[in-house]
Amino acid sequence: MNRILFITLCSLFLASSCTKEKTPFAQAPTCNGTVSFANDVLPLIQQQCTSCHDAGNASGGYNLSDHATISAHANAVLGSMRNSGYQLMPQGGPALPDSTIQLIECWIYQGKLDN
Ligand code: HEC
Repeated sequence: MNRILFITLCSLFLASSCTKEKTPFAQAPTCNGTVSFANDVLPLIQQQCTSCHDAGNASGGYNLSDHATISAHANAVLGSMRNSGYQLMPQGGPALPDSTIQLIECWIYQGKLDN
């Protein structure tokens, strides 16, 4: 394969797939300050998710009980709340309000802080 064709194909590949896969955001979410894991994210997950997703009952293999496990599954958590690439969660719906989903978006966007 000649070099220019190779470089062109690589750029197309990077532009089309890799960049999309690295971040779940088409554009930066609108965030109202820095999201707190302890005050915002964890209580939300505990209220909506851990009845079915903790260490003792990891439905679908997802334990969402603490910062380490929630961060490790952050894209799946967001994807399931958006019903995008994953089944809609909380299971059976209804979907959480946009403002709640946005909180998770901002937490991920801001680097999944343990704050
Ligand atoms: C009433 C129980 C229940 C609640 C509440 C619930 N889940 Fe689930 N969740 C399940 C079950 C059961 C599965 C496995 C479904 C399957 O494998 O078919 C699952 C699967 C998942 C998956 C994998 C889905 C996929 O398509 O692979 C994710 C991610 C997930 N849940 C995240 C969450 C999040 C985030 C919340 C809170 C917003 C939540 N769940 C709330 C029961 C629940």
